Amino acid sequence: EYKWLYQYPLPIPQTKALNRTIPHPVTGKDINYYEVEIKELKQQVYPDRGPATLVGYDGLAPGPTFQMQRGTEAVVRFINKSKNPNSVHLHGSYSRAPFDGWAEDVTKPGEYKDYYYPNGQNARTLWYHDHAIDITAVNAYYGQAGVYVLHDGEESALNLPSGNYDVPLVLSSKQYNNDGSLFSPASETTSLYGDVIHVNGQPWPYFKVEPRKYRFRFLDASISRTFQLYFESDKKLGEKQDFNVIASDAGLLSAPQKVKDLYISMAERYEVVMDFSKFKGENVTLRNSRKIAADIDYLHTDKVMKFVVGKDSVEDNSVLPSSLRSIPYPQDRTTIDHEFLFERKNGGWRINGVSFADTANRVLAKPPRGKVETWKLVNGGGGWSHPIHIHLVDFKVVSRKNGRNAVMPYEAAGLKDVVWLGPNEEVVVEANYAPWDGLYMFHCHNLIHEDHEMMAAFNVTFLAD
Ligand code: C2O
Ligand code: CU
Repeated sequence: EYKWLYQYPLPIPQTKALNRTIPHPVTGKDINYYEVEIKELKQQVYPDRGPATLVGYDGLAPGPTFQMQRGTEAVVRFINKSKNPNSVHLHGSYSRAPFDGWAEDVTKPGEYKDYYYPNGQNARTLWYHDHAIDITAVNAYYGQAGVYVLHDGEESALNLPSGNYDVPLVLSSKQYNNDGSLFSPASETTSLYGDVIHVNGQPWPYFKVEPRKYRFRFLDASISRTFQLYFESDKKLGEKQDFNVIASDAGLLSAPQKVKDLYISMAERYEVVMDFSKFKGENVTLRNSRKIAADIDYLHTDKVMKFVVGKDSVEDNSVLPSSLRSIPYPQDRTTIDHEFLFERKNGGWRINGVSFADTANRVLAKPPRGKVETWKLVNGGGGWSHPIHIHLVDFKVVSRKNGRNAVMPYEAAGLKDVVWLGPNEEVVVEANYAPWDGLYMFHCHNLIHEDHEMMAAFNVTFLAD
């Protein structure tokens, strides 16, 4: 049992430094060039046990944070100095297929691959993580995950909290052996929920904040755990405090959504503005609800981190605007183009009965490039959560039946690339299959389900007119 709750400060992942710029071969514009080494690191998690050996980007877990500007393309060379093959996926980017982290396109130990990232989308929180065939769960869990922030002028002009007041909070949940090493998910076939909650790699940290507004970029980087987050002050135990959700997977929402709690499942990103000005001198705890789907609760999995709020008033010139942006929703359609059933079958995880290993049958859709398609995603039962990620596109969450029986306001007010399919739920999503043609993956983001074949492909096809 881990007994050092709120004893260690929240680590802030360092910003990735630019190696150099290179000229674009056609336009001559600068391309930002970076190099990342995938290598081992030691992390002292339990003060009274040995360190855990992890493998992370630049030997950090989470990896360094990329800060990118829309309009400046990037090339990142990922050099594999680890013992496992890897494939890097920039989750949230409309990368061209050869740079999207296709599971079988692995880089072997000792080799490297250059990934080209267009950075052409609107501002958003992306993340980069491993996607190598059959060992994605192991690689991501041992540390191959990091934040990648894309900024743009429209968002910066809003004057949201920025700089030190704009903080990524990467959630993960893991389990350790008695010697302090990580318990591996390698032999798991259903889920690994983990009893130790980490934020930015530190179990149950504390963070000293000023009594003012903060922007927090939440990412659930757990391999199997879904959270329902809420804030509680030590002065008002049992009361959920208000906060505003301002962005999701594909960037800003149309307007802030005031909530008391927020569901975040694996790979989802939600950004919130929390105003601590009402909590001067108090301790505000970020909590997690119990009994979410089939997730296993442990002693402290209802706690995430603690904010220690300063006593003295500070100036806060940042703004929470009443409207944020107009969302480019895809054109509504009335017909369902595809229906996909996510279920456990014969001891494996399948989509419409197909496994990713079934190479002859795994391409389950061929949307013509530029066409809006409506997909119905159905959870085949058993109490499991399946957060479904569709590569390449931003989608609209149109409807949800069964389970919660509603699209959450913070899902509806923006575009997503992962949708949480809770137990028994049936969700309809709509996307424009663009801007590129090519073969892309879609899958469950419980990485153990993904590694056990709950993954398929779609081929965006180019039709000459
Ligand atoms: Cu975040 Cu296909 O993955
Ligand atoms: Cu799943």
